[in-house]
Amino acid sequence: MFDYNNNYSRRRFLTQSSLGLLALSSMPGLLNAMQDMQGMQAMPKLTPRKASPNFKPDVEIELLCQPSAVPILVGQSTKVMQYSAKLLQGPKDAVTEIPGSYLGPILRFQKGQKVRIHLHNALAEPTVAHWHGLHVPAEMDGHPLYAIDPGAKLVYEFEVLNRAGMNIYHPHPHEATATQVYHGLAGALLVNDDEEAALGLPSGDYEIPIVIQDRLFDTENQLIYSQSMHSRMTGFYGDRILVNGRADFQIDVDSRAYRLRFLNGSNARIYKLGWDDGTPITVIGVDGGLLEAPETKPYIMLAPGERLDVWADFSGRSEGSQLVMRSLAFSGALPKMGMMMHTNSLPVGSDYPIFTAHVTRKVSDSPKLPATLSKINRYKITDTANPNTPVPIGISEGHMAMLLNGRPYAYNDPLPSERIPVNTIQLMEIFHAHGGGHGNQPANAGEHQGGGMMSMGSMRHGGMGGGMGMGGGMGMMMTMAHPIHLHGQQFQIVSRSIDSGTEADYATVRDGFIESGLKDTVLVMPGEKVRIIKPFQDFKGLFMYHCHNLEHEDMGMMREFLVE
Ligand code: C2O
Ligand code: CU
Ligand code: CU
Repeated sequence: MFDYNNNYSRRRFLTQSSLGLLALSSMPGLLNAMQDMQGMQAMPKLTPRKASPNFKPDVEIELLCQPSAVPILVGQSTKVMQYSAKLLQGPKDAVTEIPGSYLGPILRFQKGQKVRIHLHNALAEPTVAHWHGLHVPAEMDGHPLYAIDPGAKLVYEFEVLNRAGMNIYHPHPHEATATQVYHGLAGALLVNDDEEAALGLPSGDYEIPIVIQDRLFDTENQLIYSQSMHSRMTGFYGDRILVNGRADFQIDVDSRAYRLRFLNGSNARIYKLGWDDGTPITVIGVDGGLLEAPETKPYIMLAPGERLDVWADFSGRSEGSQLVMRSLAFSGALPKMGMMMHTNSLPVGSDYPIFTAHVTRKVSDSPKLPATLSKINRYKITDTANPNTPVPIGISEGHMAMLLNGRPYAYNDPLPSERIPVNTIQLMEIFHAHGGGHGNQPANAGEHQGGGMMSMGSMRHGGMGGGMGMGGGMGMMMTMAHPIHLHGQQFQIVSRSIDSGTEADYATVRDGFIESGLKDTVLVMPGEKVRIIKPFQDFKGLFMYHCHNLEHEDMGMMREFLVE
């Protein structure tokens, strides 16, 4: 029970909270007490993994995370935590710094490459790095179990099995992911492959990463991060939009096509991306890489953890013209109750600019948008091991806990429904599992496998949910959008459906989802039910799934699949 991580996070709570100390400290205390009661396992303390002499890397990188200071706003530099990388071996383009940014360098790998990464923790707290989107063995996935102490090093070795796509690397320590990401630890990890190369998509100066984050600064330009009960419940929001670590981000472009690679690196903020002149967005890829064919949408919803590959064609635009990417108005992302308490000067769902593209040079030719982009091996429901009993992922929201399948995160404590036979393809259903008062919940639970039923049952009997405000009408009051992320291989979206009563809010977002690509994070709106098909191939072990609202994740809205 008294492993370092637990003690650390308790201390962090006690020192960081001056107001509402009682409410704050009771939360992890409560979870720990619940874990004790249930005889759940604490994470064992491991010796950090060393390089294996049998592994012959094509690329070898030292990835350092350390405290640093960077200029973000005018005046004083901002204290951050930052990844920096040194290429020890391999092609030069494997590491590209983003000058002046707190973001980690862009890592670029080729499919099939063998990669060795030495993570060096120069922070004053434990950390571990996760390669969000990559299909790697459980031991290489950055599970909190593998977090290393200050001063320690951890060696990752894996082969890049993914198809071309944009992934993310970020920390994943127990209950401290949100604060480390917020303070700067994150970077883009691109994979390239032959299928993508054959398309001749815009590259070099014409391929631009757009990492969107929101931050809150004090008058001395320092980051503010508070973990009040309210901000834990809704997620933490800043009031400044940063792109690639810059405030008021602008790009100068030629009048030709560009490839813009978006990543929502915010802790909690959801964007509804749209060009200010109403030009539709041409999407060529999502989380898991290229679509089969481009899709055009009036706007795109981008939740924390999601990526978007955009074909932005400025040809035909005159020199001196500009185009602004905005986040457009929408509703339903926050709980109605939370909305009243949401005092941020940049409200979620309001309309505000993200960045400006200035056309500064007229050029005569531009690449053409390919009509077909890639081949995706699509699974059918009949390919799944469980066509009639989807694996449940039940979202429950309470005043003091955000849970999945009625449970907070517990290490290596899978429900029956969370045990997945390796090399199977699973049908899964993500839904809102409100306690009581919510019409479709019992019917829903009935369809599911034992585990889901059991957990819902224990919630109703007051075991876990009882004192935590999940019964009665609270569920509906608290209902909000959750970007649900599953580690491991990307999944397909089979269907989305919504409850009656949520249509009005849903109408403000419904045209902003891409269902045709491979995803690892899906935004589940209030009242929404999403069915997915996900393969669990190659690797056994514990693979996390969680809300990528990082405050929710750290609050325990995370579980594991035991692939066995
Ligand atoms: Cu991007 Cu488990 O995280
Ligand atoms: Cu991940
Ligand atoms: Cu959430």
